[in-house]
Amino acid sequence: MSDELYERAVAIAERAYAPYSNYLVGAAVRARDGRVFEGVNVENAAYPLGVCAEKSAIVRAVAEGCRPGDLEAIGITASPCGGCRQWLYEFRLDRVTFRNQSGEIVTYSPAELLPDTWELD
Ligand code: THU
Repeated sequence: MSDELYERAVAIAERAYAPYSNYLVGAAVRARDGRVFEGVNVENAAYPLGVCAEKSAIVRAVAEGCRPGDLEAIGITASPCGGCRQWLYEFRLDRVTFRNQSGEIVTYSPAELLPDTWELD
């Protein structure tokens, strides 16, 4: 199941808009009701304004009505950055599957990716 999301992430990555880094990233997140939302990284000439692929996939899911707890798993073609790990934690995904720096497809929980996470009291 998680491998299937990873494959969808690989396929959608070709739509990334990354003319500055040339690093194309794709993500596919599955809601518990079975819907799948895809995202890509979208860069900008003002570099810090770029958006990561997993964030854009989650944004699409939220626009379609999903809330924290509604998203089951995500596949990403890259190891999620620190900020995106906070997003994955916020939305309480069960599983995060990605290709790590060694080229292995690995799966973790958001808490494993971001231990001792900060939360509002
Ligand atoms: N990128 C993502 O889309 N997701 C990540 O978690 C890692 C980084 C993108 C941001 C930027 O467009 C490009 O990869 C190079 O850093």
